[in-house]
Amino acid sequence: MKITKFPVALGCMGLTGTWNPAEMNAGREQRAIAAFEAALAAGITLYDHADIYGGGTCEEVFKACLKAVPGAREEIQIATKGGIRSGHYNLSAPYLRECIERSLSRMGIEYIDIYQIHRPDPFTHPAETAHALNAALREGKILSVGVSNYYPEQVRALQRYLDVPIVSNQIAISLGRLDPIYEGLDSGNGRVGDGTLDQCMALGMTPLAYSPLGGGALARGEAKTERGQKIQEHLQTLAEKLNHTPTQVALGWLLSHPAGIIPLVGSANPEHIREAAAAADLKLEREDWFALWTTAWGRNVP
Ligand SMILES: NC(=O)c1ccc[n+]([C@@H]2O[C@H](COP(=O)([O-])OP(=O)(O)OC[C@H]3O[C@@H](n4cnc5c(N)ncnc54)[C@H](OP(=O)(O)O)[C@@H]3O)[C@@H](O)[C@H]2O)c1
Repeated sequence: MKITKFPVALGCMGLTGTWNPAEMNAGREQRAIAAFEAALAAGITLYDHADIYGGGTCEEVFKACLKAVPGAREEIQIATKGGIRSGHYNLSAPYLRECIERSLSRMGIEYIDIYQIHRPDPFTHPAETAHALNAALREGKILSVGVSNYYPEQVRALQRYLDVPIVSNQIAISLGRLDPIYEGLDSGNGRVGDGTLDQCMALGMTPLAYSPLGGGALARGEAKTERGQKIQEHLQTLAEKLNHTPTQVALGWLLSHPAGIIPLVGSANPEHIREAAAAADLKLEREDWFALWTTAWGRNVP
């Protein structure tokens, strides 16, 4: 299955602006619809959810978004996730079946394009998880399977029992989170390169980059450390050279990686969504890409 015709996706974690269902109201719904309409108009075709986002309100409000734009459902791909509970994970077959049913019902849709396991569960054998996913695939409730926060061996373990190839791995990647980029390398933040992007290329999976703007810090020009300050300065310089904004350069750096990374930009602000979508064609030259990487990494290539 080909994931999304458009290279930037909308992360829907902040669509309602609350994690408390009691705070949902008509104003929040209208803001979510305006964000969705802006994303559609900007060409965005992939929308990333999870059952827990907004305490369920983000999936729920998406039903209103889809209703507001007749015909939109068929034009887009909807990704969602399940398996995280308060204080533990649960990838048992009965619980996953419930998760899938609830997500379908909250969004008022017949099928989920990409159903993602939110995090690996050390208490469930992957064969059991795969069993539930295989059944949901056969029933047409989900069209494909993705994972999130999976390291390569965890992908391999689940893949072994699945009837279909896993299409995506959703992981944190940005100029502030480099470990997926280069296997084996000390990525400069106490983590070691984990090979997730290499595995995506090896198996033909699409990497979905979460928090691609470092949770917003890269877009807002925030820097808590000296390295962060250097990244901001570098983004600013490149932005002037490339005639884009620093936010777009931070996204362009991800989009230029050969693995076909799709950044999941988290925003409910139509202006910010348009800005992110306008980075879709930005490709950095090799020298600029490496220079930004080494600034973010804090050292030169060996
Ligand atoms: N799988 C997982 O475990 C996991 C974990 C976290 C997130 N995610 C996914 O990844 C998506 C994005 O994650 P994220 O929200 O952490 O990261 P992000 O996209 O790096 O940052 C989002 C923040 O950036 C701000 N922003 C975006 N564009 C901006 C601009 N042009 N100027 C100024 N501020 C801007 C947004 O504020 P405004 O709303 O004001 O634009 C928001 O506060 C989520 O929605 C979710 O789909 C997945």
